[in-house]
Amino acid sequence: MGAGAIIVAAGSGERLGYGLPKALVRVAGRPLVAWSAQAFAGARGVDTMVVVAPPGDEKGIAAALGESLGVHAIVPGGSSRQRSVAAGIAALPDSVDVILVHDAARPLITSAMVEAVLAGLDSHDGAIAAAPVADTLKRAAADGVIGETVDRAGLWGAQTPQAFRAQVIREVFADADDTELDAATDCAGMAERRGIAVRLVDTGRPNIKVTVPADLALVEALLGGTRIA
Ligand code: CTP
Ligand code: MG
Repeated sequence: MGAGAIIVAAGSGERLGYGLPKALVRVAGRPLVAWSAQAFAGARGVDTMVVVAPPGDEKGIAAALGESLGVHAIVPGGSSRQRSVAAGIAALPDSVDVILVHDAARPLITSAMVEAVLAGLDSHDGAIAAAPVADTLKRAAADGVIGETVDRAGLWGAQTPQAFRAQVIREVFADADDTELDAATDCAGMAERRGIAVRLVDTGRPNIKVTVPADLALVEALLGGTRIA
């Protein structure tokens, strides 16, 4: 019984452009993936952690994590994010009753944020970290000028962690075909499509995904200061 966490770290980090897996890029003195692993290791209710590595870089990921965090397994990922999630699900012990999926690329996650998302499962089969959209939204016309303003009422940005009852997310993945595993960008989308109600949990703190070099600079500045659990 308890929650199993999957940290997906198998991406290549193309847009960051460092020529090495994004999870291994150092930020504020540690590899990116180690920040997330530390948050999950310290979260109440999380008792198993699996890290999904770029195929061939399992040893590099193991070295980046060190031995203190109690990682259950490091497994090779797939050609898409959701295929990497599937590899993580397969590596978790059958005994977990909750599965959390988190992007290694979101190092600002804290143990308290993980626990807040888990608490969202008290009322729903799924719960995800998210933030209400703050900017005014524009849809570009084909020529790159504004086509229209999109009403942002009710719009949220989806983040990770994303938590689900284990049986529910296992069934979702068992039902998914190759097209969906290639195209889906998060687990909640796959669950919603099957009518599963997924709760939005406003974590109320920055939880950006490091995607381009400017993100790294921002995260470096935030993690370089005192880290609040
Ligand atoms: N991811 C993964 N397996 C993949 C692709 C992505 O585990 N085949 C993970 C990444 O490691 C990351 C998260 O999914 O933690 C979100 O993906 P993204 O930010 O797109 O990371 P990358 O795919 O590494 O970056 P890029 O798309 O720029 O190459
Ligand atoms: Mg990617």
